[in-house]
Amino acid sequence: MTVQSCVSIRNEWDIVAARQMGRNVAKDLGFGTVDQARITTAISELARNIYLYAGTGQICIEELDEYGKRGLKVIATDDGPGIPDIRQVMEDGFSTSGGLGAGLPGVKRLMDSFQIDSSSEEGTAIYAVKWIR
Ligand SMILES: Nc1ncnc2c1ncn2[C@@H]1O[C@H](COP(=O)(O)OP(=O)(O)OP(=O)(O)O)[C@@H](O)[C@H]1O
Ligand SMILES: [Mg+2]
Repeated sequence: MTVQSCVSIRNEWDIVAARQMGRNVAKDLGFGTVDQARITTAISELARNIYLYAGTGQICIEELDEYGKRGLKVIATDDGPGIPDIRQVMEDGFSTSGGLGAGLPGVKRLMDSFQIDSSSEEGTAIYAVKWIR
């Protein structure tokens, strides 16, 4: 069975709650403090994007165990407007809100794997995995 914990994102406090959930799961799994910080930063960026661009959504964390290789997957989902050009948002400095445009490229760098599924009908789902080294 896959263990999953989720936090709904509706306001700024929920971003803090998602971060906290990420830290707890990462710590319990045995991630070191530096990787815990990477994971919580990634979660903050994804949660903040949900809040800013989609209004509401969810952050879920799934524990991974693939043939003894352990890690976690962050799943950020929303039913917002979607991301029209995924390549563009992965460029450093691209922002539609006057932000730094560092969030998504940052998440990709902090995590081991990163994937965006998005459409204007279905909203956005972002998956980011980190393995314990
Ligand atoms: N969940 C989402 N739904 C719709 N659009 C999104 C979503 N997340 C990101 N985007 C779009 O991708 C762009 C880039 O996101 P990114 O997090 O990299 O930068 P930013 O939020 O603009 O600035 P920063 O995160 O550095 O403060 C955003 O400006 C926004 O247009
Ligand atoms: Mg952002």
